[in-house]
Amino acid sequence: MPQPHLRLGVNIDHVATVRNARGGAYPDPLRAAKLAEEAGADGITAHLREDRRHISDADIEGLMEVLSVPLNFEMAATDEMQKIALRHKPHAVCLVPEKREERTTEGGLEVAREENKLAHFIAPLREAGCRVSIFIAADMKQIEAAHRIGAEVIELHTGAYCDAHAEARLAERDEELVKLAEMSAFAHSLGLEVHAGHGLTYDTVKPVAAFPEVRELNIGHFLIGEAIFRGLEPAIREMRRLMDEARG
Ligand code: PXP
Repeated sequence: MPQPHLRLGVNIDHVATVRNARGGAYPDPLRAAKLAEEAGADGITAHLREDRRHISDADIEGLMEVLSVPLNFEMAATDEMQKIALRHKPHAVCLVPEKREERTTEGGLEVAREENKLAHFIAPLREAGCRVSIFIAADMKQIEAAHRIGAEVIELHTGAYCDAHAEARLAERDEELVKLAEMSAFAHSLGLEVHAGHGLTYDTVKPVAAFPEVRELNIGHFLIGEAIFRGLEPAIREMRRLMDEARG
């Protein structure tokens, strides 16, 4: 039986990182988003951070206007971000942990510890029609908590797997992969839609893309970097090709 389509969400944050390095208007993340659409992205992902280090409020507004594919709005669970999400009502909201001093989203969200608070936080977002996803580690306790608070989707953090691969810690990489596979199946068995992302590259994408329960991958930093060498559209098309190959 053919497996369901595996969606590719292209994260354009780091186009904004390069733009902001000079404080001007280019490279333009909106142009990158439109090119990504043409290259076959099924969605665009953008993270509006509290410190606005890459994506800006105006970028989110622009994306809502120009995109033909859904916007996956990544944000921390703060009142400020909730207000912005409720104003724009993007197709999807993905809650991520955020620490000011971190370079990137380091771990998954601690759902189990903040179940009540998060349940109240996501309720209005769901009522507004946003598909709420929670970015978590491949951990049964967190997945169960995400399910209990009413999230429809979990996104599994693939960073530990990708880091172990990059540093040639192969036994650890394989353990991480087994954990991701088992937790994808577990989350799916609870009725959650399963996504995955963080740190994925051409070298690491296929084993994750092959998990039958995974419906969406969100990939950014590697693709924006690869675009320097081969252009954004070819970089995305190659990722798409590898995902399709893994899916068989
Ligand atoms: N998914 C989530 C929830 C993220 O926070 C990020 C990074 O912003 C990504 C996917 C994409 O990670 P990367 O840029 O390493 O591909």
